[in-house]
Amino acid sequence: MKNKAALLGGEKAVSLNYNILRELPGNKETEAVIKALKEGNLSAHRVSETIDSLEKKFSDYHNSKFALTFNSCTSALFASMLAIGLKKDDELIVPAYGYHSAVHPILYTGAKPVFCDVEENTLSINPCKIESYINERTKGIVNINMWGIPGNLNKLREIADKYHLSLIEDAARGLGGMVNGKKIGSIGDIGCFSFSTGKVISAGEGGIIVTNNEELYDRSLSVGHPVFRNPLNPKYNCFSDTAMGVKHNIHPLSVCMANEAFDNLEKRVLQNNENYGSFTNMLNQFPFIETLKLDKKDKRGAWSGMAFFYKESELGLKTNTFIEALNAEGCRIKQEYDSNVLFNNSALRNADLFFKDRKFKNSEECYPIAEKIRKNLLIVENLCSYSMPTHNFSEEYSKAIKKIADNVTEIRGFKNE
Ligand SMILES: Cc1ncc(COP(=O)(O)O)c(C=O)c1O
Repeated sequence: MKNKAALLGGEKAVSLNYNILRELPGNKETEAVIKALKEGNLSAHRVSETIDSLEKKFSDYHNSKFALTFNSCTSALFASMLAIGLKKDDELIVPAYGYHSAVHPILYTGAKPVFCDVEENTLSINPCKIESYINERTKGIVNINMWGIPGNLNKLREIADKYHLSLIEDAARGLGGMVNGKKIGSIGDIGCFSFSTGKVISAGEGGIIVTNNEELYDRSLSVGHPVFRNPLNPKYNCFSDTAMGVKHNIHPLSVCMANEAFDNLEKRVLQNNENYGSFTNMLNQFPFIETLKLDKKDKRGAWSGMAFFYKESELGLKTNTFIEALNAEGCRIKQEYDSNVLFNNSALRNADLFFKDRKFKNSEECYPIAEKIRKNLLIVENLCSYSMPTHNFSEEYSKAIKKIADNVTEIRGFKNE
């Protein structure tokens, strides 16, 4: 006898209390914050040793010469755009699907984001399509690892070298991942990471860049790190007191948290990847679900969410109905945010409210994979949490999906589809 779907009045398949997946700061992180508070260390000058310590840990981990902390990955990306020398009428090739922080800052430089579709398997920018967008105005390429899966970073590096372009990695969701023995974030000219919620090192807010290029380090520092420290090259000393009009310093309490959390990084990456693996294996048993592909040679970065394509025609339920039925079972699954389909992002469509003559409207025909994402990519937030093995939850999710598959005819009747 088949079990009745929860949407039709049956019992929920998932009993998970999602609160237990919350990634709370550990004891050491809490102690470091309390110590800083008690000592009144609430300025960047006072915690400079902790900042140095975190930056050293990051540059060592990525085998890169320099690391520089920021108050967010968004500001790290903003500084990176200025660091590579992006100016009016330049072009930067960016993925048609990703996160806005790697695209919107381009507008402040007067340059233009040029969208390139993403690969279906990794959802990162498609290297095979990039060359057709390169012209004399192109200054660089941006890669984003939306679900921790490394994109084809080696190929991107090759293209960037061939055309003398900069490669910026938005590695906010890629920390701990590897491609061919190199860490995600260290393959580009600049790699940017985030310490905001859901990241494997979470410090409330914060970010960091890694680079091997001294000039890029100096320029990133000069954009928004006033007073606190000097650039390496005296050419940029003119910015050391004031920076270039914005403030990007990391918050002193965030740096205390991130510095302690870093010491658990490898353990967290391992647990997160184990959880991701068990969810992926579970999802792969369903012919109407298509998961992202991780090359055997690569290692996924630790990100708390996962994504998969739902094939409407294989199961015979509309995407919205499938999601409704899953949520009725107690699953927490939703459609990918529209704003991440960047080529059609609403802020870019209306950018002329802030920037003269700048309005970006792109045709969906040029971006079939990004368009497929908009229609059929489902996301599960937080379930790959590093805080505990999620094996049992993946079994519950499996039951929920099976139940829906067994009740397709009844659900369609119920929804009049
Ligand atoms: C892929 C990606 N890039 C950039 C960011 C921005 O990071 P932050 O919140 O530190 O600015 C995020 C935040 O979630 C992200 O997921």
